[in-house]
Amino acid sequence: MKIDISKAVSFSGPERIKQNEKELGSLHSILVNGTGKGNDFLGWVKLPAGADPAILERIKADAEKIRAQSQLFVVIGIGGSYLGARAVIDCLGHPFLPLLTGRKDPVILYAGENLSEDYHAGLMEILDHYDYSIAVISKSGTTTEPAVAFRIIKAHLEKKYGKKEASGRIFAVTDAQRGALKTVSEEEGYSTYVIPDDVGGRFSVLTPVGLLPIAVAGFDIEKLIVGAVRMMKQCLASADPEKNPAIRYAAIRNALYQSGKTVEILVNYLPNLYYFTEWWKQLYGESEGKENKGIFPAGVGFTTDLHSMGQYIQEGTRLMFETILSVENIKKELRVPFLEEDADGLNFLAGKRLSELNSMAEMGTMLAHVDGGVPNIRISVKELNEETLGELIYFFEFACALSGYLLGVNPFDQPGVEAYKKNMFALIGKPGFEEEGKKLRERLL
Ligand code: PA5
Repeated sequence: MKIDISKAVSFSGPERIKQNEKELGSLHSILVNGTGKGNDFLGWVKLPAGADPAILERIKADAEKIRAQSQLFVVIGIGGSYLGARAVIDCLGHPFLPLLTGRKDPVILYAGENLSEDYHAGLMEILDHYDYSIAVISKSGTTTEPAVAFRIIKAHLEKKYGKKEASGRIFAVTDAQRGALKTVSEEEGYSTYVIPDDVGGRFSVLTPVGLLPIAVAGFDIEKLIVGAVRMMKQCLASADPEKNPAIRYAAIRNALYQSGKTVEILVNYLPNLYYFTEWWKQLYGESEGKENKGIFPAGVGFTTDLHSMGQYIQEGTRLMFETILSVENIKKELRVPFLEEDADGLNFLAGKRLSELNSMAEMGTMLAHVDGGVPNIRISVKELNEETLGELIYFFEFACALSGYLLGVNPFDQPGVEAYKKNMFALIGKPGFEEEGKKLRERLL
């Protein structure tokens, strides 16, 4: 993984970056020694190195069982309890897997990450026709969206297979002690995995939260961990920005923020990075957006969005900077054909790979946006595979924690998420919220 900030430095000035790097040096020790805000949620810092081989073996065995018995695997979870798995699975998977003839891998579907009736009713129609298993993932075990989806799908599964077989098709990932999901899992005897107490949802992709679905999808979870360990060692060993890319990234993005660039757009040029961007948005948005502070994390997929958001980025209000997530080598090969008649005038491209055109679009866009007043940071990996994804995941987590500390917030809590939950509970009539419900209904008249 490489980080290039040369197209961003002049926008904030080198002094600000240097000052941030200095402060980040102290914050690095605070993070590594566990003496900062939210220090009871630092389990992810050394998690990759401590990955328990017995748990990894159990995940692999369960994944094999699930793959043997299922055409579909439904992952029920929301926020940090599904985005990491979806990010990795989409990055590595075939873009048209459901339509691939002779496919061996189960198709991974998602539920409980929204409350759309059409979405879930549509899912139930599909589940009638395929063999499937499910993972229900919730650290608190009480989040409404996945809890409701689980209730619906569990009932379907038990009707389809009978209670006994259904319980062999349900896999739970939840807290060690608390929550309704823990109670149900124990009562019903599901294969259950624990999310460590000191790892928050958005930092949990390298626990069974992410690893079980990723293994079921057919990807190598050990290699993911190898990549994460490599980055972990680099991030823990030094606070020198020349050696620690997380310091470099945290310093420049905050320098840009201090210079008035309040929006960071993560840019990709590959549609399979869409959910990686969603995962990144959640990681940074929920970690930093507090106390009326924080960079607003946005995402675009180019070249698609050059034909929508491209105009704004080039010439709209100058409030953003871009962080390009660039992949150097693409595995599949597809070249532009030569045509004798050349009616479309494209023979000058004959023989070129689509990825070459995509790279030129990337370079051209970067220069155009810089000329338009948009600083560009470039993070690149040689190719997308389990190891590079492990590296990227850990890098972004570490940089996020440091950035939150530099901003002065606790990056590991999410008090603002409770506000909507409280109102929703009141409006749906959850016991204990009756008074609040009355007040809210009056406001809605
Ligand atoms: O990062 C977080 O903590 C949140 O996004 C949670 O992952 C999300 O709210 C889901 O919570 P739970 O796993 O408790 O259902």
